[in-house]
Amino acid sequence: MKAVKPILILGIESSCDETSASVIKDCKVLANLIANQKIHELYGGVVPELASRAHQKNIVPVVDQALKESGIKKEDLSAIAFTRGPGLIGSLLVGASFAKAMSLALNIPLIEVNHMQAHVLAHFASPLSPLLQERGGSREADGVRFPKFPFLCLTVSGGHTQIVLAKDYLEMEVIGETIDDAAGEAFDKAAKIIGLPYPGGPLIDKYAQSGNPTAFKFSEPNIPGLNFSFSGLKTSILYFIRDKMKEDKDFIEKNLHDLCASIQHTIVKILIDKIVLAAGQTGIKEIAIAGGVSANSGLRKELLATGNKLGWHTHTPPFEYCTDNAAMIAIAGHYKYMKAEFAGQSVGANARDKM
Ligand code: KG4
Ligand code: ZN
Repeated sequence: MKAVKPILILGIESSCDETSASVIKDCKVLANLIANQKIHELYGGVVPELASRAHQKNIVPVVDQALKESGIKKEDLSAIAFTRGPGLIGSLLVGASFAKAMSLALNIPLIEVNHMQAHVLAHFASPLSPLLQERGGSREADGVRFPKFPFLCLTVSGGHTQIVLAKDYLEMEVIGETIDDAAGEAFDKAAKIIGLPYPGGPLIDKYAQSGNPTAFKFSEPNIPGLNFSFSGLKTSILYFIRDKMKEDKDFIEKNLHDLCASIQHTIVKILIDKIVLAAGQTGIKEIAIAGGVSANSGLRKELLATGNKLGWHTHTPPFEYCTDNAAMIAIAGHYKYMKAEFAGQSVGANARDKM
């Protein structure tokens, strides 16, 4: 019998402030390298021009290292997938130009990937290969249960907050989204108000672990349907802190853990309430979270508890596939490769790309 040739995809992600490259073999992640850009901490947020320059510096060594770690020779790659958008245009262009040049040099297909679709597909990135398991045996036997279609995915990142109805790997519909700030932005802006460095989300998570989530109450939005709003919460935190600081200038220091726990509790409640509504409206009980904020321990815990109560199958990606990473881009690339959805050399990047 003739052996089936494996599909080897190199993924490249450069939409924001992480330069990442990944090599996957039939969806099994062989390497997933992420170079973080520390420079932005100094400015309290990502500085686009500095991000592009850092990507330019990082991209060759990161791709090189990913290939080395995977043990795959570049000549053996089946295709190269890159993030087309959404994201910072200068940063996206670095990844897009690199991917185009490399696909031309190797004479292999080029695949453009939507970053938000890739966040959802991060669920299928695993050191175990869902495809190999599908061919050879049971997924559950490996202790991993991948989401089954159709499923709902709450994608929560620094730039986006969406409820996505995933009908198939490449067939997705946004059924709810934020009308102003994203959930990650809410975490980061709240963190800035209480004096924490950028990005504040992971720090709020850390301090919240030993705080009282109901110590302080902040206003919750009243948006009908499946859309979100976080800008009112930010203002409510700002005024609350301003008033408290007038009474006691050490208020934040004395209450840091309770403040973080209460902020996190409010954001998580807003998110969970909407996914409960979406599940009720669609009748879907297969529920996933994705994106940077899905690394939040409060959200992961609450999703599990709510899921247990409502009879859902819940899915949280491993931490390394929550925040921006190239493995998820490679996974999306794999499924596009299967359908021969290739891009020409005229393809560009799109800062506001829609999935
Ligand atoms: O998906 P991502 O890496 O980049 C974008 O595409 O935006 O998400 C980054 C966001 C940031 O706002 C960061 O503060 C937030 O994810 N984040 C967290 C946690 N880890 C990352 N927010 C809350 N808790 C965390 N543990
Ligand atoms: Zn992202």
